[in-house]
Amino acid sequence: MKRLIILLLITVFVVACHRGGQQHDSTPEAPDTGDLTMDAGLQKVFSMRREAILDTIGDGLLILRSDYGFDGGRHEYRAAGNFWYLTGYGQPGALMSLSGTDARPYTLYTRERSIREIIYSGNLPDPGELLITWAPDTVLDFREADRNIAEAAREGRHIYLDFRDRVFRDHVQEILGTENSAGALLRDINPALSEMRVDKDEYEVMMLQKAVDITGKGLEAVLAECAPGMFEFEMEALLEYEWRRNGSNMPGFESIVGSGENAVTLHYSANNRKMEEGDLLLMDVGAEYGYYTADITRTVPVNGRFTEEQRDIYDLVLRAQKAAIGEMKPGAPMTAAHRMATNTIIDGLRSLGLVTDPDCQWQRKFYTVYHICHFLGLDVHDTGTQGIPRSMMSSYLIADTAVGRPLEAGMVLTVEPGIYLRANGLDQLELLYGSEAGEGEIADFISKVRPVYEKYSNIGVRIEDDVLITGTGNTVLSASIPKEPDEIERLMK
Ligand code: GLY
Ligand code: MN
Ligand code: MN
Repeated sequence: MKRLIILLLITVFVVACHRGGQQHDSTPEAPDTGDLTMDAGLQKVFSMRREAILDTIGDGLLILRSDYGFDGGRHEYRAAGNFWYLTGYGQPGALMSLSGTDARPYTLYTRERSIREIIYSGNLPDPGELLITWAPDTVLDFREADRNIAEAAREGRHIYLDFRDRVFRDHVQEILGTENSAGALLRDINPALSEMRVDKDEYEVMMLQKAVDITGKGLEAVLAECAPGMFEFEMEALLEYEWRRNGSNMPGFESIVGSGENAVTLHYSANNRKMEEGDLLLMDVGAEYGYYTADITRTVPVNGRFTEEQRDIYDLVLRAQKAAIGEMKPGAPMTAAHRMATNTIIDGLRSLGLVTDPDCQWQRKFYTVYHICHFLGLDVHDTGTQGIPRSMMSSYLIADTAVGRPLEAGMVLTVEPGIYLRANGLDQLELLYGSEAGEGEIADFISKVRPVYEKYSNIGVRIEDDVLITGTGNTVLSASIPKEPDEIERLMK
């Protein structure tokens, strides 16, 4: 009997411990994705967008398909951005149309799966479910779309497509036949949709904020775990693990997780190197949430402490980024932030001995490779023209005047200055700028700069945040993700 009681006590203890363990921090709770439920509020968000685009198409017919778009290096299926933007429906094989002459303009077309397809891929929502959840006026089989296109053409109405979807455009052209007048009916909806997507509504900002916050959780996990001897892909896996358990379906684009010399390669993505003592680790990553993606870069020392040289470069990039963010306000030209970052970086590099003449065009170009801002939203490089005059295209990166469309409240942009000191960078100067530099200029520059450059060889630092333009200035959506070097070091201890 006594033995039985002891056994019973042990059993109760073990069960209690097990339960306790399940409530431990490391056990994921079901992520809170309630804001993705297609309820009446969310239906309204999408229907307002359709109403706005109906104004653009007049009495035309807009037709888009889901199976097209920017894939960003993802391996999961993801419906086309423009299709999602107007429907909130993300299943494959679907089409949507808006008809300007119809009192009930919105049709979703779906494809019934065969039993064999269902066995392999599962079922899709049936028409009744589509009507209730996504609230189209009509649900039709996808084959009906061709008939509607042909009918609109017979009536001489414009047919609006996303012209970037060449496959579907060719298909519609085939329906219309080869007469010249038939081709003249086609219109591209992409400019109008691209422009609409630049101005983020409240729901989009909420999704972006959530995507940013989830990305931050992954980055903080890396700060806690990162150590020499581990592999870049372990950091990538850790990021994705944190993202998934916090409600993200997939990365918004191919993660860049580059250590040591890989940090100087802008779009490095092999992510397979073993990290070593003294390396920097550059992570340019973004979780996607509700179809919206973050785009954040943090650069950290693998062993938890920046070297003096790494810190020189890091401090300069951070200073440039903060100065650039200060320029991001309504009315400022698109490249104002870039100009500020460039000037700050060039001045700083001069103080370090890496620039000999801050006004020299080719020296500025050497350290200024890309425009540090782009729109962010459904796509990592989101739609919308930056309004940079064609005549400025080759020179705006180093120009003294800021150009481009004025920033407006509701825009979301990234700001991502960087300094990348490729080991063989100086040896490439002649090839890159030999034709524009004066006689002996490059050799003179190299002889002055090389000893310093070698000290900083293969240091690559980028710091990227996501910024919402507001009525009076901006809000940095990713402000809570650590970037102060002292804080990074403290968190990595
Ligand atoms: N992740 C790509 C970029 O920062 O633009
Ligand atoms: Mn990025
Ligand atoms: Mn970016």
